[in-house]
Amino acid sequence: MATTTAPAREARTGPPSILLKTVMAVTGLVGIAYLLIHMYGNLMILVGPEAFDEYAHHIRTFGEPMLPEKGLLWIIRVALLASLVLHVWAAATMWRRANAARSQRYVMTRRGYGNFYAKAMRWGGLAILTFIIFHVLHFTTQTVTIGEAHASPAARVLDTFSHWWGVLIYLAAMIFLGLHLLHGFWGGGHDDGAELLAQARRADPVRLHPGDHHHRGGLHDPAVRHPVRASRLRTADL
Ligand code: HEM
Repeated sequence: MATTTAPAREARTGPPSILLKTVMAVTGLVGIAYLLIHMYGNLMILVGPEAFDEYAHHIRTFGEPMLPEKGLLWIIRVALLASLVLHVWAAATMWRRANAARSQRYVMTRRGYGNFYAKAMRWGGLAILTFIIFHVLHFTTQTVTIGEAHASPAARVLDTFSHWWGVLIYLAAMIFLGLHLLHGFWGGGHDDGAELLAQARRADPVRLHPGDHHHRGGLHDPAVRHPVRASRLRTADL
């Protein structure tokens, strides 16, 4: 009779990981769409302060009189906030789930790019979240000022970027954001559950369950290309 010393697999609670990943991808794409439009608006500063202020004014009066003043702006704000909350919620749920899976079952430490990647996404994501809060306090509510207070949005931007530490804050945020997007796309393209499952099954077509790790072709066999990823998939997704 077959026996196993592995702990019984508990029923996973909460939404399936594939749903969380889909939520992350869709809300991430909403964020990217916003950033592209935002960058287009910000580049108006190169045309001149008047062009920038006109754009800032236009976005507040867009759609009038069908929409009230700032109507479009509020639609964008609500959509962005909802996307951000969902993105952070899905990330935090997956983070907790990965930690729980690791403390119960992992016998190997994740090393190399995969581990760096996961950490960069989490801590980089928190840094970007902090930046967004600061950024809204700075340019939208103007609770925080860099330089003087100005009525014109263009003057606020120009004053900010005439201070080296203002440049530093925004430069650091752009670097974090660039890495986040790079890793986000890399992860989205490569850390695909179906691909990993197929890989794990190819490596161990006979059996793929806890307690069955050590035979030839099993999950700990060096012939298996991604044993850690496969075991994570097994605990989190199957
Ligand atoms: C060098 C980079 C950036 C510059 C110069 C910049 C500039 C600005 C300015 C001037 C505003 C206020 C617009 C207005 O009052 O009409 C604003 C708002 C905003 N920005 Fe940025 N931004 C930058 C990067 C970012 C990034 C990376 C994000 C997100 C990750 C972001 C998200 C937002 C959000 C959410 C608002 C609030 C929109 C609102 O509700 O009014 N920005 N930005």
